[in-house]
Amino acid sequence: MRRLFPHPADAIDLREAYDVERPAPAGRPWVSLCMVSSLDGSTVVDTTSRGLSNPTDQALLLTLRSFADVILVGAATVRHENYGPPKRADQRIAVVSRSGRFDFDSPLFASGRAIVVLPEDAPQVPVPSVRAGTDTLDLPAALGLLHTQFGANVVQAEGGATLNGLLAAGDFIDELNLTVSPQISGGDGQRLTVGAPALARRMHLAHVLEDDGFLFTRYVRMR
Ligand SMILES: NC(=O)c1ccc[n+]([C@@H]2O[C@H](COP(=O)([O-])OP(=O)(O)OC[C@H]3O[C@@H](n4cnc5c(N)ncnc54)[C@H](OP(=O)(O)O)[C@@H]3O)[C@@H](O)[C@H]2O)c1
Repeated sequence: MRRLFPHPADAIDLREAYDVERPAPAGRPWVSLCMVSSLDGSTVVDTTSRGLSNPTDQALLLTLRSFADVILVGAATVRHENYGPPKRADQRIAVVSRSGRFDFDSPLFASGRAIVVLPEDAPQVPVPSVRAGTDTLDLPAALGLLHTQFGANVVQAEGGATLNGLLAAGDFIDELNLTVSPQISGGDGQRLTVGAPALARRMHLAHVLEDDGFLFTRYVRMR
């Protein structure tokens, strides 16, 4: 792994490169989004991100998780990517859903470490939940509750595009760790965000690393 920007260097240590300050803004956690995309902007090959990733990208996901208190993920991603419990015993996976429909016997939900994040009028779920808003999730309130009730100072968001759209619309993406996978994927895969109104939020490029043709970019929100 080498660094291309800002100061070119070889033999970069992943953990050192990403071990930075992530200060929680007032009333909510710092939100760090981690995604992988193809060169032509797709976030999936067939129906998952697996075909876009490589071992370094997998290691990056785990490294970034190690800095987070809570992992935030959309329900469709949990279903498609077969999410299991987090490795760290003190970490929670918060799943954004409207339906509340999951296999609650699956390892993630049976582990006791899942939180379902839903609107207040969504169906009851047999696991801990955070509820905010009616019909649609009140994301600012939900992030606030993850902060106050579950001690989330740093949240690692892991997609998919619909959840990312909600985060982008509310201007909650403090950091974007985007892996650019060296392939043209074709297909009709979603891009990084869907559903947000037109935005022109400039991000600051913090670094670019490279390994095996994959680019590991880190952007932070300009305040
Ligand atoms: N390339 C990458 O890095 C990457 C990362 C993550 C995921 N992915 C891929 O992205 C795809 C999934 O992305 P996606 O955009 O379809 O789904 P998603 O963002 O993972 O989850 C969408 C789900 O969130 C819930 N939801 C959506 N809007 C809501 C709202 N306003 N209020 C409350 N809940 C709401 C709904 O859950 P219910 O259905 O339960 O109501 C909806 O089905 C998968 O194919 C996955 O493999 C790729």
